[in-house]
Amino acid sequence: ESYDLAGHDTYMHKEICEQADAVDRVLRGRIEDRFSTVHLGGLNLDAREARAVRRVKILGCGTSYHAGMIGAQLIEELARVPADAEPASEFRYRNPVVDPDTLYVAVSQSGETYDVLAAVQELKRKGARVLGVVNVVGSAIARETDGGIYVHAGPEVCVVSTKCFTNTVVAFGLLALHLGRIRDLSVADGRRVIEGLRRLPDQIAEMLRGEDAIRTLAKEYAHARSMMFIGRVRGYPVAREAALKLKEVSYIHAEAYPASELKHGPLALIEPEVPTVAIVPDDELLEKNRAALEEIKAREGRILAVAHRRQDKADHTIVVPRSEPELDPILMGIPLQLLAYHTALELGRDIDKPRNLAKSVTVE
Ligand code: G6P
Repeated sequence: ESYDLAGHDTYMHKEICEQADAVDRVLRGRIEDRFSTVHLGGLNLDAREARAVRRVKILGCGTSYHAGMIGAQLIEELARVPADAEPASEFRYRNPVVDPDTLYVAVSQSGETYDVLAAVQELKRKGARVLGVVNVVGSAIARETDGGIYVHAGPEVCVVSTKCFTNTVVAFGLLALHLGRIRDLSVADGRRVIEGLRRLPDQIAEMLRGEDAIRTLAKEYAHARSMMFIGRVRGYPVAREAALKLKEVSYIHAEAYPASELKHGPLALIEPEVPTVAIVPDDELLEKNRAALEEIKAREGRILAVAHRRQDKADHTIVVPRSEPELDPILMGIPLQLLAYHTALELGRDIDKPRNLAKSVTVE
């Protein structure tokens, strides 16, 4: 992959379109079929050390923080190790309790974000073990951490992150699988997740072929006053990242909420000029999500669902291919990157360099 636009009008579009190949790269050479697990050579964590981990704490900023939120869910689901993600800046300013049995993971596309680097340095000073999930090889965070996983997304030029987000989530899938298979994740489940990961590049390519329909949807929603993004559990970080992407490139105000929290406040905002994007996978929470769609419809809110099949309560549905449930967030995020992109295009924004934002924030 190169730094030229290769026929695209923006780097954002180019990078969205590179995701099938990028995911292929993060998987390449890491799957160990014989044991239904993965080999992560750079972790510097032997099986005994990995088993001794009692908790995982993930630190990042912006889009990387959102990737970490999904990563924490993957680790809890597949490895049954308590895990959570926190913005690195919050973590470093609250004098956190640093626990020797916790594995800390710093996430960063650039590997240079100051808040993340400062959190890593503070953790190291206190004797913690810190891994990096980083894109840029040899970057400051990659150098300061004890080991980690390179996400191999290739160069990302657009200020807003797309392909690196997807690859980072896949990298967390690999870490979760690894931690799971040295614990209680069965061979069968390991195999199931591996097969799910292997299907991703083709499924991403298939989704990207549906770009025309998303362009049409973007025209429909581009003049919204504000947009609400909702999801539940696996869908919630997807909603957060999609709202962030829309804000960054289109400057439309967007809020993300867990679907269950709607009734505790944001429902007051729902009206025809404030459409909702709802993440509705066909998982164990489908009925709950449908109930939320009904509540929105009852307030005359317009709904765009991202789902595995058409949702009759929604005005529009973007149908995404089925994956293993744990991997749903990976595919569900991709059409919403295209939605943000086409909305910004419709509004004539400076897509690759949104106002007031920088690709990496290397100062405090
Ligand atoms: C900046 C960028 C974001 C990015 C964040 C973290 O705010 O505008 O797109 O998500 O930094 O960057 P990192 O390189 O650490 O992932």
